[in-house]
Amino acid sequence: MKTIAVFDSGVGGLSVLRALYRHIPEVHWIYAADSAFAPYGERTESEVRARSLQVAQWLQRQHEPDVLVVACNTATAWAIDSLREKLPVLPIVGVEPALKPAALLSRTAHVGVLATSGTLSSPRFAGLLGTVQAQAAAVRFSCQPCPGLADAIERAHDSAIRDLCNTYAQALLARGIAERPLDTVVLGCTHYPFAMRHWQEAFGPHVAILDNAPAIARRTADLLGGVALPDQTDTLNAPEASLYASGDVPMLRQACNRWVPDLNVRSASRLNLP
Ligand code: DGL
Repeated sequence: MKTIAVFDSGVGGLSVLRALYRHIPEVHWIYAADSAFAPYGERTESEVRARSLQVAQWLQRQHEPDVLVVACNTATAWAIDSLREKLPVLPIVGVEPALKPAALLSRTAHVGVLATSGTLSSPRFAGLLGTVQAQAAAVRFSCQPCPGLADAIERAHDSAIRDLCNTYAQALLARGIAERPLDTVVLGCTHYPFAMRHWQEAFGPHVAILDNAPAIARRTADLLGGVALPDQTDTLNAPEASLYASGDVPMLRQACNRWVPDLNVRSASRLNLP
């Protein structure tokens, strides 16, 4: 059986894990949350890089995964190059805001991007935006950082999640030019799909909200040498995962019960980093 390790600053990567196990069967899943250090989006570049490397090296040492999925846009933005450099034998998949699919989908040619301050200020994001703009010059991208939101999702603080989604959605909608309102929004942080209901309420039914997780599942299946199956939710045996958290372990377990109830938690342990 293959082993795939998935890593995020906290519970956000569970939105990626959910897509992974629904599309890739027969895998032992390892999920590591660096919750003692979350949120990454409000940390410095060197902090995110150093912690990401520590977690990835720990996962490599302890579990020798077939693939490592960095299920965090912020860690991908700041650390993926050094992870690939320091762990050259380990296939690594990162996550990035789905700008290109959004540009292709938008009929008003106006796309909103919701992400952490860290992701939006990174050179990697600037590079991605530049590449997509070069191919879709007519598309306007409005970017909105969402301080506090990943943390509210981490704490499952419902009223704060709703209020913050509303604030950030209104800020984006206000930037829609009257004759060119935005009709497509990219969720550029893996925590944000867990607030999907609030996003959809805040943006209204005419705005499409994109989450990159199925594309990550396809890329991961590809690296494993297979193809991602159609959504297997109803037919597979319950997928099994071993969980690790550098912060509160019971909180990660609760997050799994809440966000990914079809996942069978085999064990939940402390991730002790130096
Ligand atoms: N889930 C992470 C991301 O995709 C980071 C959230 C945070 O820790 O700030 O960017």
